[in-house]
Amino acid sequence: MDSHCHTLLPPQLSILALLLCIFLSVESAIIPSNIATDKEALISVKEALLIVPPSFSWNLNSSPCSNWTGVVCSKHAQSHRVVGLDLSDLGLTGSISPHIGNLSFLRSLQLQNNKLTGTIPTQIVNLFRLRSLNLSSNTIQGPLPSNMSHLTALEILDLAGNNITGRIPDDIYSQRNLRVLNMGRNNFFGSIPSSISNLSSTLTNLNLGTNSLSGMIPSELGQLNNLQELDLSGNKFTGTVAPLHIQHYFIGFVYGCFKPTMG
Ligand SMILES: *[C@@H]1O[C@H](CO)[C@@H](O)[C@H](O)[C@H]1NC(C)=O
Ligand SMILES: *[C@@H]1O[C@H](CO)[C@@H](O)[C@H](O)[C@H]1NC(C)=O
Ligand SMILES: *[C@@H]1O[C@H](CO)[C@@H](O)[C@H](O)[C@H]1NC(C)=O
Ligand SMILES: *[C@@H]1O[C@H](CO)[C@@H](O)[C@H](O)[C@H]1NC(C)=O
Ligand SMILES: *[C@@H]1O[C@H](CO)[C@@H](O)[C@H](O)[C@H]1NC(C)=O
Ligand SMILES: *[C@@H]1O[C@H](CO)[C@@H](O)[C@H](O)[C@H]1NC(C)=O
Repeated sequence: MDSHCHTLLPPQLSILALLLCIFLSVESAIIPSNIATDKEALISVKEALLIVPPSFSWNLNSSPCSNWTGVVCSKHAQSHRVVGLDLSDLGLTGSISPHIGNLSFLRSLQLQNNKLTGTIPTQIVNLFRLRSLNLSSNTIQGPLPSNMSHLTALEILDLAGNNITGRIPDDIYSQRNLRVLNMGRNNFFGSIPSSISNLSSTLTNLNLGTNSLSGMIPSELGQLNNLQELDLSGNKFTGTVAPLHIQHYFIGFVYGCFKPTMG
């Protein structure tokens, strides 16, 4: 600990000194980041890609905010930062660089419909401002990073059509802003935990179809009051299912093992 935090001072001054110390250590703990950090991160993201199409134009001598393909910056002049990255439908191969986690102002990451391989880098959980993550239709494998719950702003998580494996992490269900959860067509196994009811006020779309999930479908699904779309088809669920009371608009495409009732 810093030695100047332990000087003997009158109480009021001590408190001031303590606050100053806290302020200073917080300041020095934060690595200063700016648009140059974003640019470095983007360059690393590109380096991890093996094939990029000719239409992909990132002029490394310019700012990423000056018309780089798929890069969206915030409009506030004083905080000119990368807030969106849309590299969907570009036929990209290669992997997602861990440096993606340095794009700390990112709110939207769209990498769907490419041929990306490898795993989802754990650094992605550093993107605490991220609201929309679409990685669907790639060949991503491995488990989800732990601590997905660090993505507290996440509203849309679309991982459909990859080769992601493992159990659905429990902490997914603590993401209080999650509206759309699509993990369909992967290799998830295990059961659906009853803690899914934690998403009762937000979740509108839940797709866990075509995985290797098993066990009983939790009756807590019935507590998802805003659910409009549900697909659990193509899994290995067993037993009988408590009737689900899906309220509002139920766009019925639950194939397979059970029939929900309309609420
Ligand atoms: C931005 O880039 C695209 C193609 O990469 C080009 O067609 C367009 O004219 C550029 N716009 C500006 C303002 O430079
Ligand atoms: C960017 O991310 C990489 C990999 O996570 C890390 O090693 C590096 O220190 C980061 N750089 C900055 C400037 O934050
Ligand atoms: C993710 O991208 C796919 C492919 O473009 C699209 O069909 C899907 O609607 C997107 N997911 C969400 C939740 O918007
Ligand atoms: C997850 O977060 C907790 C607390 O923030 C931390 O102790 C743990 O090391 C993290 N695990 C991983 C794998 O990052
Ligand atoms: C999916 O991943 C498993 C290993 O986890 C592998 O055996 C299998 O070949 C992969 N499938 C595809 C289509 O990449
Ligand atoms: C669900 O919510 C309860 C109450 O807020 C909380 O204690 C619990 O940790 C949450 N469960 C998960 C898996 O997030």
